[in-house]
Amino acid sequence: MGECAAARENVNPILPTGVREIIFPGALHQPIEDIMAEFQKLVFSGVQPTGNLHLGNYLGAIRKFVALQKDNDCIYCVVDEHALTAQLVHEDLRGQTRAIAAAYIASGIDPKKHIVFNQSAVAGHAELAWIFNCVARIGWMERMTQFKDKAGGKNAEQVSLGLLAYPSLMAADILLYRATHVPVGDDQKQHLELTRDIAQKFNIDFSANIRKEGYGIDIKVGDEPVHAYFPMVEPLIDGPAPRVMSLRDGTKKMSKSDPSDLSRINLMDDAETISKKIRKAKTDPDGLPSEPEGLKGRPEADNLGGIYAAVPDKTQPDWLGELGGAQFSVFKPALIELAVSVLAPITEEMRRLPGDTSHIDAILRDGGERANARAEKTMKEVRDIIGFLR
Ligand code: TRP
Repeated sequence: MGECAAARENVNPILPTGVREIIFPGALHQPIEDIMAEFQKLVFSGVQPTGNLHLGNYLGAIRKFVALQKDNDCIYCVVDEHALTAQLVHEDLRGQTRAIAAAYIASGIDPKKHIVFNQSAVAGHAELAWIFNCVARIGWMERMTQFKDKAGGKNAEQVSLGLLAYPSLMAADILLYRATHVPVGDDQKQHLELTRDIAQKFNIDFSANIRKEGYGIDIKVGDEPVHAYFPMVEPLIDGPAPRVMSLRDGTKKMSKSDPSDLSRINLMDDAETISKKIRKAKTDPDGLPSEPEGLKGRPEADNLGGIYAAVPDKTQPDWLGELGGAQFSVFKPALIELAVSVLAPITEEMRRLPGDTSHIDAILRDGGERANARAEKTMKEVRDIIGFLR
C-alpha cells in the first residue's frame, strides 16, 4: 500500500514540513502513543472592521498579536464578512477595513514575515463556513451568550441568520488554515470552544473518509487517540489586560458601541483628548490601595490600575506595590503620560496610513494571495473528504 510507504518514511507532501502523518497506525506495529504527531503551530486571529479601535482592542488583542509574531507563524485577518452579521449596510466598509489593517501595521505587525489580509479576499472562508453550517447544530449557536446578548428580546425577524451563524464563520476562519492558537479577548472564549466542537464533529463524522483520502494525522484529544483533519484550537486569552473596562463605568467593557466617547480611548485620539478622557475618568474618593483586597467593590480603581500596569506588562501585585497609597490626583497624570507615550506613535502612523491607500491595499492584496494559496490547499482536501466531485 503506497500510503504505508509514505507513513514509514515519515514524509507526506500534503502536510507542512515537520508534520508527520501516519495513515494506518496498525500497519506499523507500534503502540499508538509512539506515533502521535502534532499539527504545526500556527497563530490566527481577526478583528472586525466596525467602529473605531480603542485601547481595549489594543491591549486585549493587537498587542498580543504583535508579541506572538516573534516565535510563531501568524495570520492576522480583517474580518469584513463578519461585519455584515450585525449590520448589513456600512457607510465606508473599505475605509474601515483599511483602518484595521493600518492599526495592525502601526502596532508593529510585520506583513512580510506574516500574513495580513481581509477575509472577503479569500473565498474559502465563506465556502468552509457553509460546510460548518451543516456540521454545527442550531442549538449550539443559540446557546452562544454573544448571540443571546445581541438578539435578546428582539424577535427573529430583526436579527440576521448570519448573526446566528457567526461562530461557524469564525470557526472557518481559523480552521481554513488549520491554525492551532488563537489570541482573543475573553468574550470570544465560548466561540473558540464551539470551534473545537465543530472540528471534533467533522473529524469524527468524516473519519473514514479522512483516512481513505489519505489526509489527517493521529493526535490525542485528552487521552483519546483520534485521527484528525482539523486541530483542536487553543485560545490564548491571558495577559495583563484581558479585559479593559469603560472609563465611565468600571463594570462595563470598554466598547466601540458605547454612546459616550468619554468611555473609551480610541487609537486615533490625540494626546489632548486622551488626557481629557483620563482626567474625567470615573474614580472614587479613596486613593489606590496596596493590597488586592482594597480593590474589592472598586471596579474603576481596578481598571485604571490595570491599564497602567498592562502597558509595561506588570502584574497586579507589582502595580499595587508601586501605586499603593497614591491619590488619583497623582496617579492620573502618570497614567496620561504613559497612555500618550504608548499610543502616540501608533496614532501617528495610523493617521498617515489611510491617506496612502495604495500602500495598505498592496499589503492586503499580497497577504490575500498568500492566504489564498494556503486556504486552497485545505479546501481541496476538504472537498475530497466530503466527496464533492472534482
Ligand atoms: N469574533 C471576533 C470578535 O468579534 C472576530 C473574529 C472573527 C475572530 N473571526 C475570528 C477572532 C477568528 C479570532 C479568530 O472579536
